[in-house]
Amino acid sequence: MNTKKLLTSSMILSSILFANNALVEKVTQSGMMSIPNNEAALTKLIDPNGNIITDKRVELGKKLYFEPRLSKSGIISCNTCHNLGLGGADGVPAAVGHKWIANPHHLNSPTVYNAVFYDKQFWDGRSHDLEDQAQGPMQAEPEMASPQELVIQRINSIPEYVEEFKSAYSKDVNIDFETITATIGIFERTLVTPAAFDDFVNGKEDALTDAQKVGLNTFIDKGCANCHNGVALGGTMQPFEIAAKYTFANLGDFKGDDKGMVKTPTLRNITETAPYFHNGAIWSLSEAVKEMGSTQLGIKISDEEAGQIVDFLGALKGRKPEITYPQLPISTLDTPKPNFD
Ligand code: HEC
Ligand code: HEC
Repeated sequence: MNTKKLLTSSMILSSILFANNALVEKVTQSGMMSIPNNEAALTKLIDPNGNIITDKRVELGKKLYFEPRLSKSGIISCNTCHNLGLGGADGVPAAVGHKWIANPHHLNSPTVYNAVFYDKQFWDGRSHDLEDQAQGPMQAEPEMASPQELVIQRINSIPEYVEEFKSAYSKDVNIDFETITATIGIFERTLVTPAAFDDFVNGKEDALTDAQKVGLNTFIDKGCANCHNGVALGGTMQPFEIAAKYTFANLGDFKGDDKGMVKTPTLRNITETAPYFHNGAIWSLSEAVKEMGSTQLGIKISDEEAGQIVDFLGALKGRKPEITYPQLPISTLDTPKPNFD
């Protein structure tokens, strides 16, 4: 290789290096954040005081997450609607629960992966953390329809569960509704999925393809990161339909919280969680991106730009924690029977 060639290739290399650094800098400026690759930093995010997560609680919480007997019918678990093999969601427009009834507000099941990074839970942000959140669906009529008393009786009638709660907490633990639901929340705290985007921001320059880098740049330039930021790339309450009415606003009756604000969904694993929006009305990711341009930013996003952004969103498909399907302890004659009413 002659000197001239060498010089040019080193110039190209340094301009790529510079471009990568500049892009990472731009990401940081935009407020987007990576999932840290060092364990201590991650633990700080998912268990800030370091006193919630233990191996035993996570293992027990996992069983309860997959436990259909927490529902009145005995056949619906958290995993029915937040299927960990389907991006943490269910793939249907409106969630279907007890007695095969669809959510009365036509609400779509959001993913549970990375929900630990949110400020607020639920589309209207009415819950502040995962432990509190888990109380909702268990009792909700269109979901698992279980009165608290039924949940408590089912679990306490199964000696293996009682033993596991003692072992995960203390010998005289009161296995009440709060403890049962909180244990599920503890398991959910571990459902984080680092992706190529995180590797790139954490310093691995070739983690993203050139097309994904272009898309990331477009994503920030268009203003998407104004709301899809933080580690979750979502998770805060934001106004919706700022610039224009949502095309499918009339499907269901959801209007946000009392100020009309909506919990910004995470964009992590977004390629796996169609259909989109609170009422699951849009199946195409590219269409969802364009809808955001018109409703949130008052701009028209071209097919080409939408394609670039979708390329980038592919880099948010995360590595899922390996989850072994748990063997659940058997019922006893005292365990309240399934009830389909
Ligand atoms: C019948 C389907 C169904 C079942 C069963 C169900 N969920 Fe949900 N889940 C939903 C829907 C729909 C929402 C959104 C509801 C809303 O915002 O009002 C939701 C919201 C959530 C959220 C908030 C996520 C976010 O983006 O705000 C979490 C976390 C969650 N569920 C966890 C659970 C857990 C834990 C269980 C089991 C105890 C469970 N869900 C059972 C359908 C279901
Ligand atoms: C002003 C805040 C804001 C901006 C800017 C914004 N979004 Fe959103 N985004 C939201 C909110 C809030 C929702 C949920 C709306 C709903 O379903 O009611 C959402 C939903 C989405 C969804 C569907 C997610 C799902 O799981 O259903 C995608 C995809 C999305 N946004 C991508 C983008 C892209 C790409 C841009 C830039 C072109 C963008 N957003 C700009 C706040 C914003």
